[in-house]
Amino acid sequence: MNLESKYSYALGLALSILFLVGSCETKPPTDLADHNLIPHPVEIAGTGGRFQLSTEATIQISDSTLQGVADYFIEVQPGMKMAMGQKADIALSLGANDQQLGQEGYLMNISENSITISANHAHGVFHGLQTLQQLIPLSSDKPVELATGTIRDYPRYEHRGSMLDVSRHFFGVEDVKRYIDFLATYKFNVLHLHLTDDQGWRIEIKSKPELTAIGGSTEVGGGEGGFYTQEQYQDIVQYAADRFITIVPEIDLPGHTQAALASYPKLNCDGKAGELYTGTKVGFSTLCTDSEATYEFVDAVVEELAAITPGPFIHIGGDESHATEKEDYIYFISRVQQIVSKHGKTMMGWDEIAQGEIEKETVVQQWNSAGNASKAAENGNRIILSPAKLTYMDMKYDSTSHIGYDWAALIEVDQAYNWDPDTINATVPAKLIYGIEAPLWTETVESMKDIEYLVFPRLPGYAEISWAPQSIRNWDEYRSRLAAHAPRFESEGIGFYRSPVVNWGKQDSIN
Ligand code: ACM
Repeated sequence: MNLESKYSYALGLALSILFLVGSCETKPPTDLADHNLIPHPVEIAGTGGRFQLSTEATIQISDSTLQGVADYFIEVQPGMKMAMGQKADIALSLGANDQQLGQEGYLMNISENSITISANHAHGVFHGLQTLQQLIPLSSDKPVELATGTIRDYPRYEHRGSMLDVSRHFFGVEDVKRYIDFLATYKFNVLHLHLTDDQGWRIEIKSKPELTAIGGSTEVGGGEGGFYTQEQYQDIVQYAADRFITIVPEIDLPGHTQAALASYPKLNCDGKAGELYTGTKVGFSTLCTDSEATYEFVDAVVEELAAITPGPFIHIGGDESHATEKEDYIYFISRVQQIVSKHGKTMMGWDEIAQGEIEKETVVQQWNSAGNASKAAENGNRIILSPAKLTYMDMKYDSTSHIGYDWAALIEVDQAYNWDPDTINATVPAKLIYGIEAPLWTETVESMKDIEYLVFPRLPGYAEISWAPQSIRNWDEYRSRLAAHAPRFESEGIGFYRSPVVNWGKQDSIN
């Protein structure tokens, strides 16, 4: 090749790359069924047309109870505005007249003229808007075209959650709100806050000020810890409720209580205050289960917590109480059960609580023992599945992960996704599976960046397991949808793990 032809070859190449890039940007949508939604909708079909969504799109609501969800959407999609007249680009309504949708499902119709989302309840409309947000390309400062079609969608499980441990390392209100936003995007409806453990007591109890003054004063590694005032906790509860997320607060009892034992001497059988603990061992602490002072303490804590928790559940932990005699443990759990009921709440606990006499309404969270889950199921209790080997997001992805543990398993993104809740326990009937929770324990997690690294990209997979029917889930198909979410993670500033089992390079757009 001479110099001149080299130049024209290079120019031609550059022009064709420019053309390709340009055509990618303006790539018209083809078929709605060829989407990248997570979780995958139950039913989705394309109708072959296009709808043009203007940058100044208008939203209309059929009912004033939808004002909040419309305002939320406008906040995350600036440029949109409420329509006062009859004609709107996006129409939100109640009265879907489809019982199977329940409280959380929705119908969406994208026609060439407008988008309609209808549901039985505002929660369903909110979910429809989360779906729409994923359909709108990220940089929507120009009008965008959406493929026309219909969606009919509702969740597989009633309880779809994640647990955040704010005890081992404390995370402030803004971090928790960011976590709630992650959950809302993927249609989770529960944030379980692990508020107390050996290393820190993180919720103000006004009648027991030493719990936070002493017990909240440190964390793993000896940092300064922290706690939520009741007002801050209520702010978190409201922020979550605005996104249809219920907070399940956990006070871990009777083990995992060193922070409380260090704060109040009378909780110790010898009447002497314990030492604050900043290590990472488990199973060494216990409240004094045969002292009435312990039950007065639990009653005071549950009373205050129940009063600031609108959700139906109080989680009482109950895990790894290796320092409590088994018969004392069983006695303790039944006393605490009565206290939780007395304060108008339903008890939740880790699977060990099934060893005792628990009420049928109590919800048992399986993390370790299938035997405990079976016992609970025999008793008719609902089960939340959080098997450590599959759902613990503090587990490393592989041996090279720079933080995390591996005591349960290494959990790559495909392993986190590729399991069916119905086949986890042979003896637990599917109808007793109340839902899924993916916990993040924070012994090795010190910052929001650490949270993001362990949670993304496993969290969207747990959302899909919790929401989509098993019959439409398939790892190979899911992983290309997941790859298409990378630009969204980036635009949110989420430092995610670029797992080698996902081909991140293939997709350049969320849509
Ligand atoms: C737990 O992981 N100890 C519930």
